[in-house]
Order: sequence, then structure tokens, then C-alpha cells
Amino acid sequence: MTFGLHVNHVLVLWFCVLRGSEETCTSVCLCIADTVSCSASGLSKLPLSLPSFSVTLDLSHNHLSWLSPGSFNTMSRLENLRVAHNQISSLGHGVFYNVSSLRHLDLSSNKLHIVEQHYFQGLWRLEELLLFNNKITQVEAGTFNGLSSLKKAYFSLNQITHFPFFSIQDHSHPFLTMLDLSSNRITTLPWENVKDLPGLVQRGLYLHNNSLICDCDMYSVFWHWELRGYNTLKDFMDEHTCTIYGDPRTSIQFLRRTRFFNNCTVEKAVSQPVTVLLSTVLVSEGERVRLDCQTSLSGTDVSFTWLSPTKGYITEASINDTLISLFPNGTLEIQAAKVNDSGLYVCTALDVKQALNATREINVTVVLPEAQPFNTGYTTLLGCIVTMVLILMYLYLTPCRCSWCKQPKPPVIPIATYDPTTLTSVFSDATREQPKIQTNKQVAFMELMTSDEGT
Ligand SMILES: *[C@@H]1O[C@H](CO)[C@@H](O)[C@H](O)[C@H]1NC(C)=O
Ligand SMILES: *[C@@H]1O[C@H](CO)[C@@H](O)[C@H](O)[C@H]1NC(C)=O
Ligand SMILES: *[C@@H]1O[C@H](CO)[C@@H](O)[C@H](O)[C@H]1NC(C)=O
Ligand SMILES: *[C@@H]1O[C@H](CO)[C@@H](O)[C@H](O)[C@H]1NC(C)=O
Ligand SMILES: *[C@@H]1O[C@H](CO)[C@@H](O)[C@H](O)[C@H]1NC(C)=O
Ligand SMILES: *[C@@H]1O[C@H](CO)[C@@H](O)[C@H](O)[C@H]1NC(C)=O
Ligand SMILES: *[C@@H]1O[C@H](CO)[C@@H](O)[C@H](O)[C@H]1NC(C)=O
Ligand SMILES: *[C@@H]1O[C@H](CO)[C@@H](O)[C@H](O)[C@H]1NC(C)=O
Repeated sequence: MTFGLHVNHVLVLWFCVLRGSEETCTSVCLCIADTVSCSASGLSKLPLSLPSFSVTLDLSHNHLSWLSPGSFNTMSRLENLRVAHNQISSLGHGVFYNVSSLRHLDLSSNKLHIVEQHYFQGLWRLEELLLFNNKITQVEAGTFNGLSSLKKAYFSLNQITHFPFFSIQDHSHPFLTMLDLSSNRITTLPWENVKDLPGLVQRGLYLHNNSLICDCDMYSVFWHWELRGYNTLKDFMDEHTCTIYGDPRTSIQFLRRTRFFNNCTVEKAVSQPVTVLLSTVLVSEGERVRLDCQTSLSGTDVSFTWLSPTKGYITEASINDTLISLFPNGTLEIQAAKVNDSGLYVCTALDVKQALNATREINVTVVLPEAQPFNTGYTTLLGCIVTMVLILMYLYLTPCRCSWCKQPKPPVIPIATYDPTTLTSVFSDATREQPKIQTNKQVAFMELMTSDEGT
């Protein structure tokens, strides 16, 4: 009895909680399953109690100017937060306290002017950060600390002059493949830091439509990216401009008009073999993979280093794993590829004597082996066994008082014609018969049960 009462109490309480959140919802916002939309509701302050069950919260197109500490701290399931098109100029400390489940944060089209390093602290699951079309002039150095799941960050259409490239390092943000800094006010970049960015970040770095000043260091970096065929350049060929001596009237499209850079020392690099070849490899899990590092460099002075997505740098000396080997000719061999071995493998061949580098990139995709053939084989086998058992049951368990009668039994015939070559057809016929037998048995069983209940 007491147990029943308790359950009742809990149910009533739960119902009240649900009702309560529904009420806060209907007044300003709209709740659809786990999505709460308060967009374009004329809000200048956050609603007092936001439903804690929401996974998606849309607050865009309102008049919010400030998000206070702990604004969302009861929303432990929140994954998508949209606050675009508001008037937010800064965020308090701990705004995202207790919302570490956040994966998608849209603060675009607001009035943020400085991105302070505490803004996104603790959001270690954050994958997408949208900050375009604000008034951002500065991004503080520690902003990206701990954002280890970050995949895409959009800073376009701001007034950024400096960006903390040095805080993005080889293993700090392993999934970052897009960093959009286009349409800002960058005049010069710390090119050494930019060249040190992880390969995937360089490949996804957008820098067009800034106020870059033409010089050889800048040109050299873009020249290498163009050589690698990065889409970030190809897609915005004409928007890559720089100004001569910083004079806005002398803006040139530097990917098209390369004559200005004829005197740059980049020409020396041109004569060096800086070939980057990107190829793709597709294998099934468990297969052996060999990744060749064929570059223009050869000879005994060439040493090879691989950068793998899961194991980091691999050199001949660093291997202590029997599942992976690096041959003297640079070929990397993985004995049995796993799905999580997928990713971009970068090989660098270094000729110490001639001081030459060459790089080779291979995009490896490991897929699970096709399950289909195995499954059908397995089900056929299972089908066979079940059918055999059913046929045997049919033969031996059916009450047949005239075993002395010489009547031929039709179901016996398929077994008599057993032959490996006709196996499938025999058994597929038999499987088609199987439901009939089953239903018969089931009906008999049901009858038995109902008569049992009746008594
Ligand atoms: C954060 O969440 C935990 C558990 O979800 C809760 O106990 C705690 O009170 C929350 N903190 C704040 C400041 O609301
Ligand atoms: C270039 O940036 C300016 C602002 O810096 C912006 O107004 C303009 O639309 C951008 N142009 C393109 C083609 O993106
Ligand atoms: C390149 O060097 C030549 C000779 O030193 C000089 O005449 C020319 O003006 C230079 N070009 C540029 C764009 O600086
Ligand atoms: C291999 O080397 C790494 C670092 O050098 C070390 O952390 C790891 O424990 C080693 N593994 C084995 C199996 O020796
Ligand atoms: C490198 O050496 C390995 C082992 O000797 C060989 O299997 C592989 O084919 C070689 N790769 C190239 C590109 O010659
Ligand atoms: C990759 O998957 C295997 C099992 O499939 C697991 O043992 C291993 O720890 C995983 N490695 C990483 C880096 O996630
Ligand atoms: C080769 O690459 C290494 C590492 O990126 C670099 O330090 C070195 O200067 C490069 N050497 C040449 C000749 O480009
Ligand atoms: C590698 O291949 C996968 C699957 O084909 C693709 O989704 C991914 O974008 C590729 N990565 C690069 C860097 O090309």
C-alpha cells in the first residue's frame, strides 16, 4: 500500500513539474518535444524559468543585451543554443555554467566587441561556434582553451585585427577543420604561427576580404596553400586581396596578379620540391593497409615521418607497436585497420643533406566490412536448422496412430531429394512452409491455454 502511495505521489509531482514547465512555455515560448522556441518574441530579458528538458533553445531575433551568470544552469541537456540577432555586447562570467552538453552555439549578428577568454570555458563538447557579424575587434588568447571538440568556428564580418593562432596547436583541437576569419581587418598575420597550425586547420582557414598588406611572407604562405589546392582559396580567388604599402587604393587580387611577387624569395621555394599529393584510400576494418610515401625525394639520406590522426608523429625510432611498421622506403603499414584509424595521414620526407622537404597526404577511410553477405548466410543457416527441427517435430510429435499404415507423407519428399546443389531451393521452399506449421502449432497452443483458463 505505502509503495503504491509513494508511486502516486511521485507521479503527481512529476505531472506538476511537467505542467509547470508547460505553463512557462506557453506564455512566451513555444515547446515542441525537446525544442523550445522563443524567437522573435520581443524579449529584452530571459524568461524566468526556462524548461529544463530542452535540448534546443532558440532565442534569436529578440532584444537581449546581456546574458547573466548561470542563465542556463538548470538546462543540463541543452545542446543547441541560438541567440543570433540580438543586442548582446558582452557575456557575464559563467553564463554557460553547467551547460557542458552544449554542442552548437550561435551568437551571430550581435554586438559583441571583445571575446573574453572566460566566455566559453567548460564547453568541452562544443562543436560549432558562430560569432559572425558582430563588432569583435579582439579575441583573447585563452578563448579556445579546453574547447577540444571544436569543429567549426565562424568569425567572419567582424573587425578583428589580431587572432591568437598560437593557441591552436597540433593536438589541442584535433577536430577543428574550419576557421573563418574572412571579412575582418587583419593587415598582417604572425605567419610563423600560421604555418605551424595543424594541417587540417590550415586547409580550412578562410582569410579572404581582409586588409592584408602585400609582402613576401604573406605571399609565400598563400602560395603553398594554393599549391595544395585548398578550396578556401579556390572558392574565393577574387576576394583574396592585399594592398601595396597598406594603401587601400592599391588593392590587388594577389592570387591572380602574381607579378608583384616576382622578387620574393618564394621563388627559391618554387625550385625546391614542395610537392603535396593528396590521395584517398578506402579499406574495410581488419584489412592490412600500406601507405606509400612516394615523393620526389629519394636516396639513402631521406628520412620519413608520418603524422597519424590517432597516434601522432610516427618515426622509425618511435615505433614500439607490432601492429604498425614503417619501412625504410617510407611505406607505413597498419596490420589491421580499425574504424578509428580513419583520417588524414601526412608523410614528410626530409633530405637532410640537401635540406629539402616533401610532403604526401593520404586520406584514409576505414569502413566496417559489409554485414549483408554474412547476415544472409547466417539467416539461411538458421532457417535451415529451424526448418529441420520443425520438420522433425512434425514427423515425430504429430500424434499418428496409424504408423502401420503405408500412407506416404508429402513433407518427407523434400528431404529425400536432398542435394547440395539444390540446397537453397529446397530450403527456401521449406521456409515458406514454416509459418504454416508454426501458426498451426500456435493455434493449438492457444486453444489449450484458453481451455485452461476456462477451468
Ligand atoms: C549544476 O547542475 C547540477 C546537477 O545537474 C546541480 O546539482 C547544480 O546545482 C547546478 N549548479 C547550479 C549553479 O545551478
Ligand atoms: C568584405 O568585408 C566587408 C566588411 O569588412 C563587407 O562589408 C563586405 O560585404 C565583404 N565583401 C565580401 C565579398 O564578402
Ligand atoms: C624586382 O627587382 C628588380 C631588380 O632588382 C627591380 O627593378 C623591380 O622594381 C623589383 N620589383 C618589385 C615589384 O619590387
Ligand atoms: C610506446 O611508447 C609510448 C611513448 O613513447 C609509451 O607511452 C607506451 O607506453 C609505449 N608502449 C609500449 C607497449 O611499450
Ligand atoms: C616499401 O617497402 C615495402 C617492404 O619492403 C614494400 O612492400 C613496398 O612495396 C615498398 N614501397 C614502395 C613504394 O616501393
Ligand atoms: C579504437 O577502437 C578500438 C576498438 O575498436 C579501441 O580499443 C581503441 O582504444 C580505440 N582507439 C582510440 C584512439 O579511440
Ligand atoms: C622541413 O620541414 C621542417 C619541419 O616543418 C622545417 O623545420 C624545415 O625548415 C624544413 N626544411 C626545408 C628545407 O624546407
Ligand atoms: C577524407 O575522406 C572522407 C570520406 O571520403 C571525407 O568525408 C573527408 O572530408 C576527407 N577529408 C579530407 C581532408 O579530404
